Amino acid sequence: MDKFVIEGGVPLCGELEIKPAKNAILPCLAASLLTSEEIIFNNSASLNDICSMLSLLDHLGVKIGGNVGGALTLKADNIKSLVAPYDLVRKMRASILVLGPLLARFKKAKVSFPGGCAIGPRPIDQHLKGLESLGAKIDVEEGYIIATTDGLRGGEVVFDKVTVGGTENLLMASILANGKTTIFNAAREPEVVDLGNLLIKMGAKIEGLGTDKIVIEGVKEVKGAIHSPIPDRIEAGTIMAATAITKGKVKLKNCFKENLESPIIKLEEMGFSLNFDGNSITVGSGKEIRSTDITTAPFPGFPTDLQAQFVALLTQAEGTSTVKEEIFESRFMHINELQRMGADIKIEGNIAVVRGKNELKGAEVMASDLRASASLVIAGLVAQGKTVVNRIYHLDRGYERFEERLETLGARIRRVK
Ligand code: UD1
Repeated sequence: MDKFVIEGGVPLCGELEIKPAKNAILPCLAASLLTSEEIIFNNSASLNDICSMLSLLDHLGVKIGGNVGGALTLKADNIKSLVAPYDLVRKMRASILVLGPLLARFKKAKVSFPGGCAIGPRPIDQHLKGLESLGAKIDVEEGYIIATTDGLRGGEVVFDKVTVGGTENLLMASILANGKTTIFNAAREPEVVDLGNLLIKMGAKIEGLGTDKIVIEGVKEVKGAIHSPIPDRIEAGTIMAATAITKGKVKLKNCFKENLESPIIKLEEMGFSLNFDGNSITVGSGKEIRSTDITTAPFPGFPTDLQAQFVALLTQAEGTSTVKEEIFESRFMHINELQRMGADIKIEGNIAVVRGKNELKGAEVMASDLRASASLVIAGLVAQGKTVVNRIYHLDRGYERFEERLETLGARIRRVK
């Protein structure tokens, strides 16, 4: 298993072009199942999660051209299977996103339950409830969801909880349903909007993207399209936190400020100076990092996917900060490991109380999930001495060549096989 060895203490400096968003590409790849025509992606990211989704689509019969990390073409003109098997789904929870498009186009789908993961139970009840509102019949047999319909019809979907994946599955299912669908309490995340924009290019009729009420007028079929996925706001936020903790100066190119407002506000509250120029954001160092309080929330709130990275940053702030995790239970796995590096953090229910400023010391630590891994790397960048981050396969799921990209900014980090 690969690990990272980091020698801390170097301020990150330079420029970095942000990659396309994993969480936008994944649903857009699943959307290729909705048509027999070709969907062309102008760019993608070389990530294990993208490879997992492509393996699943390949298993279903989608023809895939191009290369991961570059342009990709997908053509679902000869689907051979409507079954997403356990072995492919268990690797990545986002595999559940094939359920909506398969059901809408082929009237049947059998998808393995994704199962739990390191950041707590992640149910899919809202996806299933939503599909039932469109007339799907859902059965569960031997760990598989079997969804059937004699034709989806428009309906009203009221999510009890804001769900990104649930909104995406319902969007993909409803564009081919007969009549009008309204999704209430829809997710407003930029990645949902990006998927919606691709679906519109394919011929779908959708209004209200980016709001909590989305209205879809079903069409008989959709066609091919060309798409460029949006930049990855989580990669951008991660590099911002890494720059901030090392008191460096980095210009991030290709990022949309409007998708990063909450983390930007928090960095400014901490005393960092940020400059904006078109699609570039430059993060500069603050003299002294000030404490702040963060609560994760659905977009446009502070993203849960940046919580772990900002906890690492707040260990270097003067005073006490609180970080409240409102989206996922058990998303504090990084905290034990940060404590081993000398951080003073206490967990009270879903609140982490971070007391700063504590000098971090290099240690051997274990990554437990994707964003927790990034948090440990960030801590390692400022820690005294050598930090070894084990199990970075989690990190490879969502960050492309992370260590190489940090190295270009001056970090002393290497991958050990
Ligand atoms: C997506 C992102 C993930 C991010 C998360 C929240 C992708 C591939 N992944 O995950 O990186 O952390 O949004 O921004 O885009 N829930 C239910 N029932 C459901 C569905 C969700 O109770 O049917 C709960 C979840 O347990 C969680 C909350 O709703 O507490 C939000 O989950 P959701 O937005 O669905 O997350 P994902 O789409 O899985």
